[in-house]
Amino acid sequence: MCVFVLSSSKSETLQANWEPPGRNPGRLFFNLPPETQAWELPWWRMCVRVWRMRFLITAGPTREPLDPARYLTNRSSGRMGYALAGAARHDGHEVLLISGPTTLDVPPGVDFIHVETAQQMYDAVRDMLDGVDVAILTAAVADYRPVAYSEQKIKKQGERMVLELERTPDILGSMRSVFGFKGTLIGFAAETQDVESYARGKLERKQCDMVVGNDVSRRDIGFDSRENEVVLVFPDHVEYLEKDTKEHIAMHIIEHATIIRPK
Ligand code: CTP
Repeated sequence: MCVFVLSSSKSETLQANWEPPGRNPGRLFFNLPPETQAWELPWWRMCVRVWRMRFLITAGPTREPLDPARYLTNRSSGRMGYALAGAARHDGHEVLLISGPTTLDVPPGVDFIHVETAQQMYDAVRDMLDGVDVAILTAAVADYRPVAYSEQKIKKQGERMVLELERTPDILGSMRSVFGFKGTLIGFAAETQDVESYARGKLERKQCDMVVGNDVSRRDIGFDSRENEVVLVFPDHVEYLEKDTKEHIAMHIIEHATIIRPK
């Protein structure tokens, strides 16, 4: 059985049950302006695919080891990705979260794969893509890793040291071109300037359906923070979401993710 819940931000206004033949059970929530009546919904919102979707979400940082005691990483807390996984699950979808190391609890009902390195995340995403309807790649994947891993702890030598690094595989950039992913593809762009235009560049280069851009130079949002303020960049328009908790931002993104028609 599939349950539609049409709701305003004040209260749920209408709930209808529907049993689509041969489909998995699922639920879809529409957020309507307060006091909106169900019959005022645009027709296309009523015709949306509403059966349970399968989400794959990457989150957190990766760790690129240098020796048994050291690694390269970044400041990502993983909160945005975990909030998205929780929101998608809350809306009745099937969710697989593939995450680098964080201190967060996996949201209830979410399937989970723990990874450490960019290569492990790449392999896990490639292996788990079958049947995925929506992929949201929020992970702050290290762009470079040490060329060589030392089995023994590296001892200090001179006053300076040069580390040789090489590129890690680009997971988002491989989704269409290497993995042949045909579902809805959503990427993130953490920028310190020109957020919208860099996000649009990523949308086009990596053949995404939406890129969520945010300004990580601001200390009150983004990395390591409980709040975010983002711009959603689509092929033909943009939408700004005001500063809000990552949980509320996640609900908006999941709403979009369920109605976007993939390229
Ligand atoms: N991403 C990925 N695999 C990588 C690097 C990034 O999947 N090896 C994904 C991130 O999860 C995010 C998006 O790509 O969704 C970020 O795009 P990218 O162009 O890689 O951003 P930056 O790493 O910030 O790179 P740039 O220096 O080009 O801004």
